[in-house]
Amino acid sequence: MNSILSVKNIKKSYRDGEVTVNVIHDINMELARGDFVSIQGASGAGKSTFLSILGAILLPDSGTITINGKNLEDYSREGKIHEYRKNHIGFIFQSHYLMPDFTAMENVMIPLLMRGIKNQAAKQKAMEILSKVGLKERANHYPSQLSGGESQRVAVARAVAPEPDIVLADEPTGNLDSHNKKIFIQVLEDLQKSRDLTVLVVTHEQDLAAAAGRRYFMKDGYLSQM
Ligand SMILES: Nc1ncnc2c1ncn2[C@@H]1O[C@H](COP(=O)(O)OP(=O)(O)O)[C@@H](O)[C@H]1O
Ligand SMILES: [Mg+2]
Repeated sequence: MNSILSVKNIKKSYRDGEVTVNVIHDINMELARGDFVSIQGASGAGKSTFLSILGAILLPDSGTITINGKNLEDYSREGKIHEYRKNHIGFIFQSHYLMPDFTAMENVMIPLLMRGIKNQAAKQKAMEILSKVGLKERANHYPSQLSGGESQRVAVARAVAPEPDIVLADEPTGNLDSHNKKIFIQVLEDLQKSRDLTVLVVTHEQDLAAAAGRRYFMKDGYLSQM
C-alpha cells in the first residue's frame, strides 16, 4: 500500500485536576493516497481529539504518526510543526472560519500565497477551484454576502487548493440544512475523486459517512472498521 499516513498505538488522556480521562485508548490507522475515509461515533467518543492529533494541534501521550515517511515528532523536534500543518494538512471544520475582510477568492488565495505561490498563479488556482465547487460567480463576494452553504464550500476550496497530503474534516456538514448538505457531499466527493485527494472526515451524518470508501466507528476512544 502506498501509505501516506500511518498512525500507530496513539493514546491520549486529558487531566482535569486529580482526574485523568483516557479519551483515545489505542488507535491504529493507515491511509493510502486517494483514500476517502469516514469516522462516525457519538458525541464525546474522541473524534475531534483524534483529528486534532493528526493535525498536530494536540500532542498524543504516546504512539507515532508518520506522514509521507516522516515522523511527526521529527517535525516537532525541528520546530517545524507550523510547516507540517501548512504543507501537509487541509482542515475543514463545522464553522467555515473564513476571514470576513477578504473575498471568497482571497480567502482561497491566502494559503497559496503562504506557500510562496505568486499572486497571479494563486488567483488562477483559486478561481479554478471555486469554479469546481460551483462558486465562480461568487468569487468576489465577501463572507457576509454568502450563504452558510456557500461559505462552507469556500472553506473546502481553501482547504483543497494548496494540495495538502491529507484533508481533515470535522463535522463539516454540522451547520448545514439538508439541501446544502447534499450539495456539500457532492462537491467533496467530486473533488476527492477528480483530484485523488486523501480525505478523513468525522461526522454524525449517515449520507456523508456513506460517501467514503472506507468507514470506521469510534466508541470510547477505540476505532473499529465497519
Ligand atoms: N481540552 C479538554 N480537556 C478535558 N477534556 C476534554 C478536552 N477536550 C475534550 N475532552 C473530553 O474528551 C472526550 C472526547 O472529546 P472529543 O474528542 O471532542 O469527542 P467528539 O469529537 O467525538 O465529540 C469528551 O469526554 C470530552 O469531554
Ligand atoms: Mg467533535
